Amino acid sequence: MTETDVECAKQDEPIQEAGNVEIFIMGKRYEVPVGFTIMKAIEYAGYQYVRSCGCRAGFCGACATVYRKEKEQKLHFALACQALVEDGMYLVQIPFVPAYKAKYDINDLAPEDNIILSIYPEIARCVSCNTCTKSCPQDINVMMYIQNALRGNITKAAEISFDCIQCGLCAMRCPADIKHYHVGQLARRLRGKYIDPESKELNARMEEMDKGKYLDEVDKMMSMDKDTILDLYKKRKIEAKGDLDEEVDQ
Ligand code: SF4
Ligand code: SF4
Ligand code: FES
Repeated sequence: MTETDVECAKQDEPIQEAGNVEIFIMGKRYEVPVGFTIMKAIEYAGYQYVRSCGCRAGFCGACATVYRKEKEQKLHFALACQALVEDGMYLVQIPFVPAYKAKYDINDLAPEDNIILSIYPEIARCVSCNTCTKSCPQDINVMMYIQNALRGNITKAAEISFDCIQCGLCAMRCPADIKHYHVGQLARRLRGKYIDPESKELNARMEEMDKGKYLDEVDKMMSMDKDTILDLYKKRKIEAKGDLDEEVDQ
């Protein structure tokens, strides 16, 4: 992020308005409205995101943030687009967490007990300190998926890591230098490719696509102007909750 001349955040002035909180961004003091996410507050304070920002919806993991609160020892972890500002936050965003990703072709692997260990041997160095779990803004039991990967339980490692958004905060803190999110991703790929049953519906849809069933529809859409597309979007059929419940019950 870069600082601009936006004047809405005034430094070195006492907090007067109820409804504001005092935060510190990379050491500088700002007043920002209560109820803002960290991301919104950083922009309100005059910064413009050039990285550390992606989906703004809790999915991409780009907005990994660390902060301490005044007089607290503990370091906290959050997603800037999701967590709300609190009074006395000293915060900074982590633009990137360096982490080597092993090269492999999933088609050449087999779902054997030692497969993840052979690709990421550093998981054997896990000392079970649980620091990774405490760093995860998704509340994932990170240590547990690493331990399952180490023991060859691919199914469990994939399941526990399912909500990982690859923010990298766990990897930044691990004393064993494990790159957890790459490990979880490999477990999910192995499970999807070799362990879970194939989806008949997905295969049928893929076949339809291969045969070009939707090409005319796509061409039609590509030739529309933005307003027509917006109108179509607003009028789209939305599945009623009742329909979804029925589908789940079947
Ligand atoms: S932080 Fe690293 S060493 Fe500690 S439990 Fe997690 S994976 Fe293991
Ligand atoms: S497991 Fe690690 S990379 Fe994934 S969301 Fe949690 S902290 Fe982020
Ligand atoms: S911007 Fe994507 S998770 Fe926050």
